[in-house]
Amino acid sequence: MKREIIITSDGSTTIHLPDWNEQYHSKHGAIQEAKHVFIKNGLDIISDKNISILEIGFGTGLNCFITFLETSKNVDYIGVEAYPVDENEIKKLNYISELNAENQTTIFDKIHSVSWEEKHQISDNFSLTKRKQFFEEISDKNKFDLIYFDAFGARVQPELWTENIFERMFKALKNNGVLVTYSAKGSVRRAMQSVGFSVERLEGPPGKREMLRGIKK
Ligand SMILES: C[S@@+](CC[C@H](N)C(=O)[O-])C[C@H]1O[C@@H](n2cnc3c(N)ncnc32)[C@H](O)[C@@H]1O
Repeated sequence: MKREIIITSDGSTTIHLPDWNEQYHSKHGAIQEAKHVFIKNGLDIISDKNISILEIGFGTGLNCFITFLETSKNVDYIGVEAYPVDENEIKKLNYISELNAENQTTIFDKIHSVSWEEKHQISDNFSLTKRKQFFEEISDKNKFDLIYFDAFGARVQPELWTENIFERMFKALKNNGVLVTYSAKGSVRRAMQSVGFSVERLEGPPGKREMLRGIKK
C-alpha cells in the first residue's frame, strides 16, 4: 500500500495512507497524541519501577522513542508490527528535532536498526524486542503491565477492534495491567468490557473528545 510522509498540526510528521485516507497518528498532532494517550494516561499511571510494555503497531517507533525519553523506569518494550516501516521513510521523520532530542539520536537510530525477533538492550534501563507478527497471532499470557493499543482505526480495520483481539490483549496483561487506546468508539468500549476489562472514558488528545483505558481487574 502507498505510504506518504505528512506533517501534522503540532509540526511532527506521520505516515499517511492515501488508499485508506488513514494516518499512523492523529492529524491534529502526532507527538501530542502519543504523549497524551500513551504516556500521560498509560505509562505515568504505572507505579512499578520495572515495567513491561506491549505496543500494538510499532510503526514509526514514535511511541517507543517517547517512552524511552519520558521514563527512568526499567522498561522491557515489545513492539508488534506486521509491515515494518522502511529506512527511507524513517529518515524523513522529524521526531528527533520536534522532541528536542538531538542528544538521543543514537537511541532513535538503534531503535530502528536493531534486528527483529531478538531482545536488545537499548540503554541501561530500556530493552526492546521488535516482533514481526500479526496481532491476530498474539498469544502471550500474563506478561505485560501496559499495552499501547495503536492499530489503525476501526473504520479501516474493524477486524482489529473485536472481542477476539481484546481477549488476546486481556490474556497478555498481568492482573491490574492497563490497556490504553486513542479510540473512544462505543463498539470498542463494549468489546473491551465483554472480555473482562473495566473501561474508563478519559479526555482525548487535541482534536478528539475522548479516549479509552481498560484495566484488567
Ligand atoms: C496506527 S499505526 C501504528 C503507529 C505506531 N504506533 C507509531 O507510533 O508509529 C498501525 C500499525 O499497525 C500495523 N498493522 C496493521 N495491521 C496489522 C496486523 N493485522 N498485524 C500487525 N500489524 C498490523 C501497520 O503496519 C501500522 O504500522
